[in-house]
Amino acid sequence: MRRYSRITGTGSYLPPRRLTNADMVGLLAERGIETSDDWIVARTGIRARHYADDGVNASDLALQASLQALEAAGRKASDIDLIIVATSTPDMVFPSTASILQRKLTEVAVAQGDLGAAGGAAFDVMAVCSGFIYALTVADAMIQSGAATRALVVGAEIFSRILDFNDRTTCVLFGDGAGAVVLEATEHDGSGPGVLASDIHADGRHTGILCVPGTVSGGQVLGDPLLKMDGQAVFKLAVGLLESAAKAALAKAGKTEADVDWLVPHQANLRIIQSTARKLKLSMDKVIVTVDQHGNTSAASIPLALDEGVRSGRLQPGQTAMLEGVGGGFTWGAVLLRL
Ligand code: ACO
Repeated sequence: MRRYSRITGTGSYLPPRRLTNADMVGLLAERGIETSDDWIVARTGIRARHYADDGVNASDLALQASLQALEAAGRKASDIDLIIVATSTPDMVFPSTASILQRKLTEVAVAQGDLGAAGGAAFDVMAVCSGFIYALTVADAMIQSGAATRALVVGAEIFSRILDFNDRTTCVLFGDGAGAVVLEATEHDGSGPGVLASDIHADGRHTGILCVPGTVSGGQVLGDPLLKMDGQAVFKLAVGLLESAAKAALAKAGKTEADVDWLVPHQANLRIIQSTARKLKLSMDKVIVTVDQHGNTSAASIPLALDEGVRSGRLQPGQTAMLEGVGGGFTWGAVLLRL
């Protein structure tokens, strides 16, 4: 018998404003820039994305996803002793979006006569599109060690705020949203639900191929505060790294590709997802795909896809799911779990 962490509830939230590729064509045309539904679909598989309205922050999206996840787990905010938010688009420089989320969760809870989540640990993880994989790995380690018992692990992003709408090669790719899971301690002999293995990495030599190089200094933004990406370099790296992380997680768990029921990948690009599925010998009907409707929501994309898989009834208790992601840093990783 040993201590594991298992997902007991999932939730997600997309801001209501939905932009189709036709809307993007119109938006870019106002700037004299050409794009087309055909180009976007053929190169990325994306058909639509959601944008948050002005004044809505990552913590607001995170709050809605978290409330859903708590409800699905049958838990209250006061049951949570750890909140980790994966985000690259935090509400502010500090405090962390996790602290702000903890306050908002507590306000909702107190209004309902509960104590709320105040007092538990709360911090952000920034590993860009691998953020949720990193956050889940850290939460799992804290639960296994006894440092935490019941965690809320969230990915929340408002990438629309850091897009350069004069750069058609990047602005059509990303969207906003949040996904959350409740992760709880459980004990079993290895045959029960929980995180079976994880594998995370970074290679800082590639910081330049995907970044938002600006910063805040002396009351001003210094440098470019908008997203820059060398798409082809990212594509080439992503395909190999995703395969190696997934295979490393399988090896650590003593499993093979044949043991994987579902692939729940970071949703950056349908072609990258298809290539990873091929390398894991999984047919596309074993892959949760949301990139067509959500675009790339960075750290939010995996928990959004997970929630979609659960709520559509495809992901079932007892099945094995491979979660994997890659992003700026360069960062990458995979988590193998039994549902
Ligand atoms: N509409 C129309 N034409 C476009 C657009 C657009 N939105 N964007 C680029 N083009 C044009 C280019 O200008 C170029 O034209 P040219 O041949 O006349 O010069 C042509 O299309 C091909 O451009 P490429 O950049 O070579 O296109 P590519 O096939 O590499 O596709 C893409 C670009 C989709 C960005 C691809 O490289 C990719 O998916 N890379 C991975 C990106 C990714 O997944 N990033 C996220 C991972 S990490 C994270 O999630 C943060």
